[in-house]
Amino acid sequence: MNINEKVKRRYNRISGIYEIMDKMIKEEWRFNLLSNIAGNVLEVGIGTGANLSFYPTHTKSLTGVDFSPRMLKHARDKVAKGHFSFPIELVEADIQSLPFPDDSFDTIVSTCVFCSVPDPLSGLQELKRVCKPDGQILMLEHMKSDQKWVGTVMDLLNPLTVRLWGANINRETMNTIEHSGLLIEKDKHLMGSIFRELSVRPNKS
Ligand SMILES: C[S@@+](CC[C@H](N)C(=O)[O-])C[C@H]1O[C@@H](n2cnc3c(N)ncnc32)[C@H](O)[C@@H]1O
Repeated sequence: MNINEKVKRRYNRISGIYEIMDKMIKEEWRFNLLSNIAGNVLEVGIGTGANLSFYPTHTKSLTGVDFSPRMLKHARDKVAKGHFSFPIELVEADIQSLPFPDDSFDTIVSTCVFCSVPDPLSGLQELKRVCKPDGQILMLEHMKSDQKWVGTVMDLLNPLTVRLWGANINRETMNTIEHSGLLIEKDKHLMGSIFRELSVRPNKS
């Protein structure tokens, strides 16, 4: 079984309990991040739709993608039960090869996603491709601590967290973002250097 299939299966398996785990992200963090959105939005790794109730009414449209059908089912239930003032489309798709043309979206959102995307560099390059040149990418992501000893502990615990809930806790996501050619405009530390709110530009000439 390849790594994509493994991660997908893991999220299918934990989809039933994910509603408890998504509390790891404070509601206030989700609210603050999403208050900055504009225009047509793509949310990657939408999961069970934990962000849905935080989208402001000025959202023009929302497309949510995830490669786990079971996680998406929870998001679909929330869309069916909620009263949203903007159109929402949910698509089963892989972030590493998004089924959208270049320059499609004004805002792209990812919350706690790049800890689990099997090849984060190709995922970030896809975000860059489908983001409009004057668009923005808003992220809430956790990553390996900048503090050496904490980072070492995270390295040691990583095999366990991957097995338990599919998340790598020792990804060096800031390096990967820079490597992908994206431009980091805002880097706010929410929990030491581990949890961050980021605002990133596609940096297309
Ligand atoms: C930790 S959950 C976060 C869910 C949601 N964003 C939140 O804030 O609660 C990560 C999600 O990313 C999805 N995911 C991981 N890699 C993916 C990929 N390559 N393509 C699409 N979805 C992916 C998983 O299926 C899972 O639903």
